[in-house]
Amino acid sequence: MAILKIARMGHPVLSRVADPVADPTAPEIHMLVEDMVDTMIDAPGTGLAAPQVHVPLRVVVFLVRPERTTGIEGDTPVDLTALINPVLEPIGTEMNEGYEGCLSVPGLTGSVPRYTHLRYRGLDLKGNTIDRTVSGFHARVVQHECDHLDGILYPQRMTDLSKLAFVDEMRRRTEK
Ligand code: NI
Repeated sequence: MAILKIARMGHPVLSRVADPVADPTAPEIHMLVEDMVDTMIDAPGTGLAAPQVHVPLRVVVFLVRPERTTGIEGDTPVDLTALINPVLEPIGTEMNEGYEGCLSVPGLTGSVPRYTHLRYRGLDLKGNTIDRTVSGFHARVVQHECDHLDGILYPQRMTDLSKLAFVDEMRRRTEK
């Protein structure tokens, strides 16, 4: 196991399009996923994409804890998932706003519109297909992580930059 260094906004690895994984069962992919999970849990974070640890491959890891779900139908908690070569397909055009953070944009949080309903597919570490239809926070996490594979950070998805803030300032205001 290893905790990897996380690239921060401005590093070119975060703005390039990542390459597909040729063989999800390869030992180096298993090692990469193990290290990504260690890094995500240590941070702590709810998701991590390989480019964030300076590896330009189409690999993401994430989990959705029950307390983070929104109550929207289909917004289900999910155990730790490693998703390789993901393909996203929004269902319908409905979007919702929600605050996101990113380990590559430390200290900040911003309100981002995302598709409410999403089907995503990809491969697991055994090369088996993952095919899920989800909503709400679960759908948000997957959209955020998979954007990293196309060189997109959440501030680039924001439509109202007045809703970009420092986490500690936000917390101070909401605790009053
Ligand atoms: Ni991120």
